[in-house]
Amino acid sequence: MKAKVRAYTNIALIKYWGKKDEDLILPYNNSLSLSLKEFYTETEVEFRDDLEKDIFILDGHEDIKTLAKVSNFIDYFRNLKGIETRAYVSSVNHVPTAAGLASSASAFAALGGACNEALQLKLNDQELSTYIRLGSGSASRSVFGGLVEWHKGTSHETSFAEKIDDADFDIAMIAIIVNEKEKKVSSRSGMKNTVETSPYYPQWVNEAAEDLIDMKAAIKDQDVDRIGEIAEANALKMHATMMTSNPSIVYFEPKTLIAMNLVKEMRNEGITAYFTMDAGPNVKVICKSSQCDIIKERLLEEFKEEDLIISEPGYGLEVL
Ligand code: PMV
Repeated sequence: MKAKVRAYTNIALIKYWGKKDEDLILPYNNSLSLSLKEFYTETEVEFRDDLEKDIFILDGHEDIKTLAKVSNFIDYFRNLKGIETRAYVSSVNHVPTAAGLASSASAFAALGGACNEALQLKLNDQELSTYIRLGSGSASRSVFGGLVEWHKGTSHETSFAEKIDDADFDIAMIAIIVNEKEKKVSSRSGMKNTVETSPYYPQWVNEAAEDLIDMKAAIKDQDVDRIGEIAEANALKMHATMMTSNPSIVYFEPKTLIAMNLVKEMRNEGITAYFTMDAGPNVKVICKSSQCDIIKERLLEEFKEEDLIISEPGYGLEVL
């Protein structure tokens, strides 16, 4: 009744923003992400008869604040097994420096994967992604490596993630750490507010569907410029819906704009570089693996060495 699993985080190229069903975490649109090798979580779960409550250790310290969320999530797996046994959970986020990118994606994917193994539920990856989705939507995509699509679906079973490409071509990402503090507005409340109040939200749903079709064609062609172009435009459309919600949500900080401008400048010089941002100020640069060093060199004009992390595509869940 014990297992340890590693999960890599992922960054969406076609964003998930907005739930149709808040309880089942069914999104309004399909999303598509790239897994990252440099950012991952390792989680060990042990179901123990001697425990009266779950215990959650994060990076070596007991985390009482997140315990309820963790317990509720483990309940899905306990229910599948038909047990009530409590668990001892120890989780370590592996991110170079305090990157502020320790996303919920790798965390819930590693925890769900470890529960599946420890309880020998034998859920296949697709089924597992549906349960992991209940912890955090984007986490469903971290079950797989490379380029992954999350199908929005219409029910618990039909809303799952699927690998669409190994991403073993000349593609990489550079994370620019603008601010490592926790985000001001959680994605959960941010997307709810956007769905309810942004006049642009219905258009976002249409745009995301079209962007997804174009993105899949670009991936098939391994056309990194086209992939970056679509991803950058998609991220800006998502942020436009946030900014036009009430109350408005602006995740950008001055350094976010500096990074965006620098990326555009490089592009005008013929370098393949495009930006994407999530529910926070940090910028991720979509680029060619073969051009990472020259891009990093340019970014060093504005950012510190420790705030720039180059990552190759990552892998799916790994049982350790
Ligand atoms: O999975 P959540 O609830 O953390 O939401 C993720 C939302 C974005 O990161 C902004 C977009 C995405 O698809 O990952």
